Amino acid sequence: MVSVPLYKPENVIGDEVIDGIRDVLASGWLTLGPKTRSFEDEFSTAHSSEHGIAVNSCTSALYTCLRTLGVGDGDTVVVPAMTFSATANVVRLLDANVVLCDVTETGNMDPESLARQLERYDVAAVIPVHLYGLPADMPEICRLADEHGAAVIEDCAHAPGASIAGEPVGSFGDAGCYSFYATKNMTTGEGGMVVTNDDSLADRVRKLRNHHQTKSPDEKQDNWGYDVDGLGFNFRMSEIQAVMGRSQLERLPEMNDNRREVAQQYLAALEDIPGLEWVGDSDSFADHVFHLFVVRVTDDYPLTRQSLYNHLSTNDIVTGVHYPPISELSYYGDVCGNHDTADDLYDEILSLPMFPRMTDTEQETVIAALRSAANE
Ligand SMILES: Cc1ncc(COP(=O)(O)O)c(C=O)c1O
Repeated sequence: MVSVPLYKPENVIGDEVIDGIRDVLASGWLTLGPKTRSFEDEFSTAHSSEHGIAVNSCTSALYTCLRTLGVGDGDTVVVPAMTFSATANVVRLLDANVVLCDVTETGNMDPESLARQLERYDVAAVIPVHLYGLPADMPEICRLADEHGAAVIEDCAHAPGASIAGEPVGSFGDAGCYSFYATKNMTTGEGGMVVTNDDSLADRVRKLRNHHQTKSPDEKQDNWGYDVDGLGFNFRMSEIQAVMGRSQLERLPEMNDNRREVAQQYLAALEDIPGLEWVGDSDSFADHVFHLFVVRVTDDYPLTRQSLYNHLSTNDIVTGVHYPPISELSYYGDVCGNHDTADDLYDEILSLPMFPRMTDTEQETVIAALRSAANE
């Protein structure tokens, strides 16, 4: 029997990367150097932004953006209830308050719920998430945030290459933050990127990722003199990661097209499996980059979500739940905000295997198991 993982990073990483890594090792420049700069330029250009600042994770990207915007003790930041914990953690790491905003049936931030939180609280920043690779309603979210003087940091961890009417996500708000974690659409093992059109924000993020030094390592080559004019951290990206990122960026449109083809085949199969419903929006199919393909296991399906998970697992098919809402996490037991729709989704969602270059056999194995579970 074929076993099918949830992700296949080896399908995302091209063999050409090995030569690039060899070049880096021979060059004597292992971190924050010319390859990282090229990756930053290429990534920001591909995402219609002036600046790209490569960091070591999306978590540090989000953290540096909030910190650079001055978010701190006692400030309020709105995040969607349905997201990975990192989106909220960065807020609490800055001693600011997390307020949850509910999501729509797609799992993305609900602008109506956001409008209510913006009325109720004095909000410093909003972090919409392009969940599963589907762009959030950025024009409306930015309009609302602007009306209330709140900054917008886009959490694009799931959505490199996604766009709304041709405009890449990450270019709508004050900054966009990407993840190159092992399972993401593009991976450098660990890694992240900030994109922004704000020169001053870019400058401060650049310093914050490198101990707040006033010069980058290459700028110190000819003249060692530098200052430390603030408190910074080491959030740097290595040259090996940059090589991995550059090679995948070139193939990103093709890989995202490939993910859409896999999604299309799942959608065709779901038409005759009653009770399993895609969590998405067919009107935005072309904008979606399918980091995850998520279904709701509704009451019309003969098995519960847990029984289906077990059935698939017995058949060597790995699935997952993305995510327990923030309010479900014990650390966030006291969190304020709205999460009714996120809670409803949480009862029923299941992420099916999704990766580019999924073979017909792999996908047919998953679909056959969904059908056989329904007929048991
Ligand atoms: C929505 C979302 N935001 C942020 C992150 C954090 O990304 P990283 O692991 O690169 O720090 C993740 C990681 O899974 C995520 O799914």
